Amino acid sequence: MKDASRRLKKSLHRKKVACAVRPENVDYNKIVLAVDSFINIHTMSNKDFLEKIFVGAFKLIPEAEKGSFYELIDDRYVPIVSSGYDLEVLQKLVFNREDAFADYECSDSARIEAYEKYIDERDDTRFSEEMINILRELGTYSKYTSLYAPIQVEGVNVGLICFDCFTKTGFTKTSKKILKFYAQIISNFYTQKLLYEKEKKMYHDVVAALVSAIEVKDKYTEGHAQRVREYSCDIAKELQLSNSKINDISTAALLHDIGKIGISTEILNKPGKLTKDEYDIIKLHPIYTKTILEKISGFSSIANFAYNHHENYNGTGYPRGLKYDEIPFESQIIQVADAYDAMTSERAYRKALSTHQALKIISEETGKQFNPKIAKAAIKVFSKLTSS
Ligand SMILES: [Fe+2]
Ligand SMILES: [Fe+2]
Repeated sequence: MKDASRRLKKSLHRKKVACAVRPENVDYNKIVLAVDSFINIHTMSNKDFLEKIFVGAFKLIPEAEKGSFYELIDDRYVPIVSSGYDLEVLQKLVFNREDAFADYECSDSARIEAYEKYIDERDDTRFSEEMINILRELGTYSKYTSLYAPIQVEGVNVGLICFDCFTKTGFTKTSKKILKFYAQIISNFYTQKLLYEKEKKMYHDVVAALVSAIEVKDKYTEGHAQRVREYSCDIAKELQLSNSKINDISTAALLHDIGKIGISTEILNKPGKLTKDEYDIIKLHPIYTKTILEKISGFSSIANFAYNHHENYNGTGYPRGLKYDEIPFESQIIQVADAYDAMTSERAYRKALSTHQALKIISEETGKQFNPKIAKAAIKVFSKLTSS
């Protein structure tokens, strides 16, 4: 046992010594450049990220004199970033799926790898005269070496990164490794982007399905959710709320009445005025809204904003009779928007109020039913609607 421990200590000591010795041939400038290309990338837009990564790779590959990056957009490869080339001239080169890799040995089944190819001359039959002229203008018609790598999502090419060298030296093994590494990073970026877009679409589809579920059940609410969403977002913008708050308000406003699914169709679609008991049942819908939305992961704030859309500023609302700051500010925005749409929509038992009449009520109820700050912004927003 003691021997084993001594052997382990000795081996650890050897490793420490080995780590302490810096290899002579490490190019620290390159490491700094590589690290620099990844700083702050999480805060950037897609375009800025691609530009930064592309420039990072370009700087690290000394043989590269010019370079370009193509993205597959609507089945066509479009140049979006370049170095050394005039991007305006380059953008005239839009390839379809087959032509983009015509000069390269790189199919969808090829691995993410850096490939090198010396292009001695082009096969003129493959390109139009216009394309040949553009290639000549760019200097990439013949006699240059291209180091290229496909950008892939789930094994399918979605982009192409190429670095070009116009002397006959070609690219070193290290440059190939660097390009392969960067192509993998960019491929990961596109994979994440696709996943995010899929999730976003699914999210919108689920919200739209929930909205249509309530509209099928309650004939009076057709278009109501959409209008309340628009009004709420306009008021939130007028109040200069952040984009993320506006997004949450938008979703909560769309779904604020979803709890009406739990109310009987007879009561919801009753042509005349409701009895007190029926009205008490209707008043349960914010609670049902909360119960439904809380079940969706990541929706706890949205559920809370929607839950409180019938609370009044002075505490006379329902279901809890909250007042002032006890009511989420977001809910108070939806409440004014909801009230305005209800007043200006026709019901079986009453005609729609004009915008002027609705604005008069909002202003009379300022400080009572409605938060004064929000009511002021809402009056501004709704007044613009009448004048437009
Ligand atoms: Fe409601
Ligand atoms: Fe409503």
